[in-house]
Amino acid sequence: MKDFIAIGDYAPQQLQAMLDLAVRLKEEWQAGGNAPLLQGKTLAMIFQKPSLRTRVSFDMAMRHLGGDALYLSPAEIGLGKRESIADVARVVSGYVDAIMARVFAHEHVVELAKWASIPVINGLSDYNHPCQAMADALTIYEEFKTLKGINVTYVGDGNNVAVSLMFVCAKLGANFTIANPEGYDLPAEAVNLGRKFAAESGSTITLLNDPHQAVHNADVVYTDTWTSMGQEEEAEKRRRVFPPYQVNATLIAEARPHAIVMHCLPAHRGEEITDEVADGPHSRLFPQAHNRMHAQKAVLVELLTEK
Ligand code: CP
Ligand code: NVA
Repeated sequence: MKDFIAIGDYAPQQLQAMLDLAVRLKEEWQAGGNAPLLQGKTLAMIFQKPSLRTRVSFDMAMRHLGGDALYLSPAEIGLGKRESIADVARVVSGYVDAIMARVFAHEHVVELAKWASIPVINGLSDYNHPCQAMADALTIYEEFKTLKGINVTYVGDGNNVAVSLMFVCAKLGANFTIANPEGYDLPAEAVNLGRKFAAESGSTITLLNDPHQAVHNADVVYTDTWTSMGQEEEAEKRRRVFPPYQVNATLIAEARPHAIVMHCLPAHRGEEITDEVADGPHSRLFPQAHNRMHAQKAVLVELLTEK
């Protein structure tokens, strides 16, 4: 594979190999530092939206592996506005070794990959967030030593993060359940694809509207913002619809006693998650955020080194 655009593009064996590599690179980093596997390589990071985790974790991943990263802000490139995506892709391909792009429309990152002669990594699009999903899988794997048979429940909006979480669960054998308000469903085509992956791995996908039913038997309870970047004009309406989907102590008490709580962050405390849960014993929010860096090291090494 040249690019990392969506979890669905990768075979379960490839995802598991990247996960295993992430575990090894994390251990190596914690034991004193990584080998300079990406010495002399540079990653261009193109952002159409704000970021903390994606920006800093990719930048530090490159530095730890002996490489370098360039931050290109939303104001700078004007992807598709100042210059066509095809032209940006071909110009940047002559300067650096890989592109990471955070875009609004998923087609824009697909278009970048089509025209770039170098690997392109999706740093979040309106369709999915595959780097987040790798960090999510790593976090679940660290907790349970497998994803097979683990019950992962996502409570909230059927958004980009939910799609890639569903894909990584279905690919690696975890059972995925979502509870979302009516009208905020996962895209139907994504569900169809997810069901195909789940059938191949022997796992299940369950679509519900009731958060209480959904967290019953959950090993992992996952939530995300009610309003994603680009949907700001819907924020007020969503604030009226989503409160029954808040991940709070009452809801967590209905999951398995050992259940962990995950959130891709940034969190809107008091909305989709309470402080009590975000900072409580079930929370893995910060290890999960830190795993972005370790998981992305594996993606970078996979795409940028000869096998
Ligand atoms: N989870 C995540 O992608 O965070 P940022 O938007 O801060 O990069
Ligand atoms: N669903 C959120 C994730 C942010 C990391 C968004 O797209 O804004």
